[in-house]
Amino acid sequence: MAKSVLSERKTLHPSELERRELPEAAGYAVRALANEIAVTVGMSPAIATTLGNPDLLHHIDTRFSELPEEVHRAMRAPATSAGVTIISRLPLSDDELGQTPVDWRQAAAWAGEPERAHSSFALDVSMLLLARCAGEPFGWQGQQGGRLVNNILPTPGHEQEQSGASSTTLLSPHTEDAFHPRRANLLMLGCLRNPDRVGTTVSSVRRVELSAAQQDRLSRPELPILPDVSYGTDFPEQQTPAIATLGSDDGRLTLRYDPAYTPLADADDEFRSAYDHLATELERVCITAALTPGELLLVDNDVVVHGRVPFTPRYDGTDRWLKRVNIRLPHRRRDASEAAETGYGQRVVAPFRMIRGNRT
Ligand SMILES: [Fe+2]
Repeated sequence: MAKSVLSERKTLHPSELERRELPEAAGYAVRALANEIAVTVGMSPAIATTLGNPDLLHHIDTRFSELPEEVHRAMRAPATSAGVTIISRLPLSDDELGQTPVDWRQAAAWAGEPERAHSSFALDVSMLLLARCAGEPFGWQGQQGGRLVNNILPTPGHEQEQSGASSTTLLSPHTEDAFHPRRANLLMLGCLRNPDRVGTTVSSVRRVELSAAQQDRLSRPELPILPDVSYGTDFPEQQTPAIATLGSDDGRLTLRYDPAYTPLADADDEFRSAYDHLATELERVCITAALTPGELLLVDNDVVVHGRVPFTPRYDGTDRWLKRVNIRLPHRRRDASEAAETGYGQRVVAPFRMIRGNRT
């Protein structure tokens, strides 16, 4: 006899988020090494624009292993079915940040201006060191000018967009860069400032309930996922391969999901119904995390979709400010069918693979 699904549902609580705390000395060690590298390499507009300077990358790649063992342990991939971890206590003071920039271009420009005397550049280096402990940080040529650390800021004129620059609209749950076969395995969001405690939402596919028929339908390639607006809209006419919404890694569910950029009207009723059910389930298992300064959210991008609740931007220099890094886990495999995808011509900037001579 079929059991009631409803009776087995349980509401998830923020306390179910996996939390890891950096011991005080370990947190200071990250900031100290980052400052030392920032001073050695020297802050300049040329370096801060993309952070692709070979000297800077060499320092990060050769010195991250010096960080205390507790840092390396804290930066391991999320270990529970929730697929997310909050790492707290990276030392940070609001005074050192200066004004929140209005967009990513201004953030990159200000990071390269020594006369501003704030620590955005040193924090970029901190983020790269932490991300390097987790895996291989990378960027995208077509996003934020190829910068290895993205700045997430509410930006005038983009309030309603489905991108990190938005504010007043709900940023729907999505897999980061779902359209691309080389999307990140892990996403790191570092909180510098979040005065209105704006929530980041996370939902794990490993906590949803689907029927066998729904799971089967969503596991077959059906519709493409198109690039999001942060890549611009003039990407060349490309083939639009159908991709599977659900996959598996060692028999455990994985997810590739971005409804805002999926042409659902092209699918039949059965598929849309299964997809809608998945959306409802992702909402049911959603956890909201309001990050505070010095906290990092590590998201397993193969398992978890993330979004953000709407908020009213301040535009007065005190707005929410996150730093975001894409991370590849070299040991993780994706479905072989993805290898043939072109990713709509979008290319990764992956210097840490090149440094070690491994370009695969
Ligand atoms: Fe995102």
